[in-house]
Amino acid sequence: MDDVTALKDSFLSEAQSAASLPEIQQLRVKYLGKKGLVTAKLKALSNVVPEMRPAYGKAVNEVKNSIEEEIGKLESLLKQADHKKRVVAEALDITLPGKYTPFGREHPINKILGEITDIFVSMGFEIEEGPEVELDYYNFEALNIPKNHPARDMQDTFYISDDVVMRTHTSPVQVRVMEKRKPPLKIIAPGKVYRCDADISHTPMFHQVEGFMVDTDIAFSDLKGVLEAFIHSMFGAGTPVRFRPSFFPFTEPSAEVDIGCIFCSGKGCRVCKTTGWLEILGAGIINPKVFEMVGYDPEVYTGFAFGMGVERITMLKYSIDDIRLFFENDLRFLKQF
Ligand code: PHE
Repeated sequence: MDDVTALKDSFLSEAQSAASLPEIQQLRVKYLGKKGLVTAKLKALSNVVPEMRPAYGKAVNEVKNSIEEEIGKLESLLKQADHKKRVVAEALDITLPGKYTPFGREHPINKILGEITDIFVSMGFEIEEGPEVELDYYNFEALNIPKNHPARDMQDTFYISDDVVMRTHTSPVQVRVMEKRKPPLKIIAPGKVYRCDADISHTPMFHQVEGFMVDTDIAFSDLKGVLEAFIHSMFGAGTPVRFRPSFFPFTEPSAEVDIGCIFCSGKGCRVCKTTGWLEILGAGIINPKVFEMVGYDPEVYTGFAFGMGVERITMLKYSIDDIRLFFENDLRFLKQF
């Protein structure tokens, strides 16, 4: 009987130092497994003298049961402890602020560009585009600005080579479209243009929207009607519009178009330099020379064209006094629109 008691004692002392589930598992194998110590005692029962057998067997079974019970308890305790540890380790601090991706927003230039094109599209104009690296031919010559002509001084040009330039305006798109299509045409051509110029009202790259219309009976009054409709939609219904004589080699007659100063309502202020008027675009009746260049018969077709600076219009709409703000990418500025 002593060996049975000793077996239980040794189990109890081992069980005390078992601190993990694998260790408990080892104990189970060591005592209760097929080749375990308790199992061995049961197998050896036949060696015990018959009179002692029932009592001995009972004692072994009791030890077996109590070891099983003890192991069960230990296991469930350790499982609970493990679970607690996991809960603590995996705890989520739901009070931490989440990671957030700030929303972007449309650049003011793109926003106004979109508004301008929307207005013309609503009047039935189609959108066309042309290359920013342009042949001298399209940028100048086909627009009646020959090489070495003083009219080239109007636009400080980045030359890539003798025959290739960064386009200085969107007017070359007129020529490209007319070369490949026949009238009637009602087109706007938005895009980037480049001039070798930089101060508070000029940047080397800026945006223009070109517009033109060609058909058999287009008159200056059509130009006035379309531009007035645009200006009233863009700056408000009552905005005064004025056409001033001007010069462009590719239009004849040419005009510069002013709107009544939207800051002082025409009384005269710093922005309009006390004139009461703000210049917003150039325009005119397409020069017959341009039609000849694209193979249109100037006796049959007439047309108008205009070109406006998007930065200029955006600056007026939002009272921005320095064009460079558009390109500094300062979020404090960009978030205001
Ligand atoms: N291309 C001219 C400029 O950039 C603007 C313009 C376009 C004038 C069409 C008349 C007709 O200054």
